[in-house]
Amino acid sequence: MNSKVIIFDTTLRDGEQALQASLSVKEKLQIALSLEKSGIDIIEVGFPISSPGDFKSVETISKKIKNSRICSLARCVEKDIDAAGQAMSLSSAFRIHIFLATSTLHMESKLRKNFNEIIDMAVFSVKKALRYTDDIEFSCEDASRTTLDNLCRIIEKLINTGVKTINIPDTVGYSIPNELSYIIKNLFEKVPNIHKSVISVHCHDDLGMAVGNSISAIQAGARQIEGTINGIGERAGNTALEEVIMAIKVRKDILGVSTNIKHKEIYRTSQIVSQICNMPIPSNKAIVGSNAFSHSSGIHQDGILKNRKNYEIIEPSSIGLKEVKLNLTSRSGRAAVKYYMDKMGYKDSDYNINELYAAFLKLADKKGQVFDYDLEALAFINKQQENLEYYSLKFFSVQSISNGLSTASVKLLCGEKIYTESSTTSNGPVDAIYQALNRITNFPITLQKFQLVAKGKGKDALGQVDILVEYQQRKFHGIGLATDIIESSAQAMVNVLNNIWKIKQVNKKLNLLKNLKTH
Ligand code: KIV
Ligand code: ZN
Repeated sequence: MNSKVIIFDTTLRDGEQALQASLSVKEKLQIALSLEKSGIDIIEVGFPISSPGDFKSVETISKKIKNSRICSLARCVEKDIDAAGQAMSLSSAFRIHIFLATSTLHMESKLRKNFNEIIDMAVFSVKKALRYTDDIEFSCEDASRTTLDNLCRIIEKLINTGVKTINIPDTVGYSIPNELSYIIKNLFEKVPNIHKSVISVHCHDDLGMAVGNSISAIQAGARQIEGTINGIGERAGNTALEEVIMAIKVRKDILGVSTNIKHKEIYRTSQIVSQICNMPIPSNKAIVGSNAFSHSSGIHQDGILKNRKNYEIIEPSSIGLKEVKLNLTSRSGRAAVKYYMDKMGYKDSDYNINELYAAFLKLADKKGQVFDYDLEALAFINKQQENLEYYSLKFFSVQSISNGLSTASVKLLCGEKIYTESSTTSNGPVDAIYQALNRITNFPITLQKFQLVAKGKGKDALGQVDILVEYQQRKFHGIGLATDIIESSAQAMVNVLNNIWKIKQVNKKLNLLKNLKTH
């Protein structure tokens, strides 16, 4: 049996249909290009009959994608098949994906047809689609709740008609792993012409088993896995492709198969899909969650620093992430503190680890998470400077006009002096206030992340803003909390400015020491 597993991505079809707002043609193209770059074999780009917008995006993407095969969905309806064929006509290689329900429940209560009628409709539609391409995939919708006899009957007919890929969807996420593998194994045993086609599975995650089901289907002989990036999709979502792909790579010893995926592109693709689809990735999500490679407990951090394999089954760099992340919290041990100090270039003799660790624990208890720049401040500047908030927001005012410009004025206390500045921008009130603050401090910073979350409910909710900025190739975090979200945004930036100021004091002090030594 072939040891290559074909990866079929339906982020732009099954994934997109679950979003609050549909994506523009440009956004879909951006995702498709990213999927192509990751080495996805087949990209299902849409359901062209569903809307003129969908037709247009399938058409546009078909012209641009060269290294992945394009695919579009169609019901067993002539106009659907024509729309799919026409929308993809400019593509160099394309597939038409036809589906029809085969479970008794769907046949009787949704389609009101008997099984012979279903077979006739399916065969008729496949013949129509073969006029456009010889690459036809057929999905027996709700296959996991279809009787085995009916599945075998229709599949044999479809393969004889020319279907190259037979998809077995677990449409409602009902199956459990050994049940799906039982179905696949039986198809291989009972359908005489089964070897002329590729068997695919398409699992939904209603019981949280989409990835497990997909893996057990591979073990039973399936050689195409359908899913979406980050698992987005109808209801609880689809199989998270990045999880299946990494399971195939990491457990090659058991599964004995491989994919064409460029693993180093996984993280980037996941981020692009999350941002464009406005679907945040839970921090504990396997493979791509922000905590997937972060270690928090002191014992784990110590183990990781001794040998990464102690607590890491995947190297972060293998999915395109740069480094292992140790969260500095009150649970961290000396090893983690020392790791960050080493990373910033300090020798053991530059500071006293016992004093630093004691100060670190106090700060961690107060602050929750501590960052590398906090360690530097603890190690090298005195208590007074360390606790000093050099910058403080004394006043702000913003004015925004719909579809127009935003103007902000700020008064910022810098040490003992108050400075006033204002700024006007077309990028909204937060940008205006950030620009005004920047005019005062002149720090060359770039905002990398801005996150707003509501704390509490209703009128009394507070807006918490978390930001991440880059300053001289280092990352600084800032948090602001206020009822007014503009104020919390401004406070988050002032928090960042104070963190940068402390590091400037550290640098001043270290330079002073260096000069003293050289004189
Ligand atoms: O979940 C499903 O059954 C589908 C089919 C169209 C393949 O999305
Ligand atoms: Zn689906």
